[in-house]
Amino acid sequence: VKHIGVLTSGGDAPGMNAAIRAVVRKSVYHGLRVSGIRHGYAGLMAGEIEEMDLGSVADIIQRGGTKLYTARSPEFLTDQGQELGVAMLQKHDIDALVVIGGDGSFRGARALSHRGVRTIGVPGTIDNDLPCTDYTIGFDTAINTAIDAIDKIRDTATSHERTFVIEVMGRNAGDIAVISGLAGGAESILIPEAPYDMDQIIDKLERGVERGKRHSIILVAEGVGKGMKIGELIGQRTGWEVRVTVLGHLQRGGSPTAFDRALASRMGAMAVDLLIQGETSMMVGIKGKKMIATDIDAALDSMREVDLSIYELAGILSI
Ligand code: F6P
Repeated sequence: VKHIGVLTSGGDAPGMNAAIRAVVRKSVYHGLRVSGIRHGYAGLMAGEIEEMDLGSVADIIQRGGTKLYTARSPEFLTDQGQELGVAMLQKHDIDALVVIGGDGSFRGARALSHRGVRTIGVPGTIDNDLPCTDYTIGFDTAINTAIDAIDKIRDTATSHERTFVIEVMGRNAGDIAVISGLAGGAESILIPEAPYDMDQIIDKLERGVERGKRHSIILVAEGVGKGMKIGELIGQRTGWEVRVTVLGHLQRGGSPTAFDRALASRMGAMAVDLLIQGETSMMVGIKGKKMIATDIDAALDSMREVDLSIYELAGILSI
């Protein structure tokens, strides 16, 4: 490998910049050329490609978002789009690619591998919804943002003795809801991976009030449904004044935590190592404290293991 391209794709995640920095600096360290591709696959097809050097990634490790911009590109799912992408890489003499993103981005990475471009995926998404890694870049920052919001909402919930429903992101995964719910002391957590019973939730809320609890927080993962609907339902059933907050995209921003910066740095560097070793169609991950590499097919085709013990613990501790 002589010239590595790097792009970010799909929803941005705090720590993506640290990953870009690692890819660029590790490439330069090994004497390789490295180019940044802006706006994900859309920018690849449009030829938005620029060579990077050590200075191109100065002062970004602490920044949220992605210096390379990002996009979701349905066009890249077509043969025509992929052929155009390969042609652009050839035109710029790029012989290997690091794709930082979630599962949609990895599908593009796999397609490029099948077309002969050596490609490695780096998991970057706040959702933490990829198999073959314990953590994705951005998740830790997102849960810290979420608990900061939960703490603030709890202040006003306490003052007004109110019940709050807070909707968090996560697409089809409940990880953000589970960890921020446990860490934020939510009374109930609703996630797509576990069935919930509205009667039981209401029962628990009412028992809490009888015991003297003056406020409650119910955390809803967006994969379960709209927080607004659930708030209305609880209000109708209890006759209480329920307020709803949708945390939304603020969970995607902000300076990455130390954990995300370190994870992104290790993952970006490992992607370059894998390309130097001649690998392709792999994703990097972390299991325990160890960095691992898995075939991207396994990542895309296998089911994610869901450990419900933390979810259950949150239920026990919020009794
Ligand atoms: O995948 C990250 C994510 O933030 C999900 O949690 C959410 O469902 C989705 O992206 C939102 O996408 P968009 O920014 O396109 O509205």
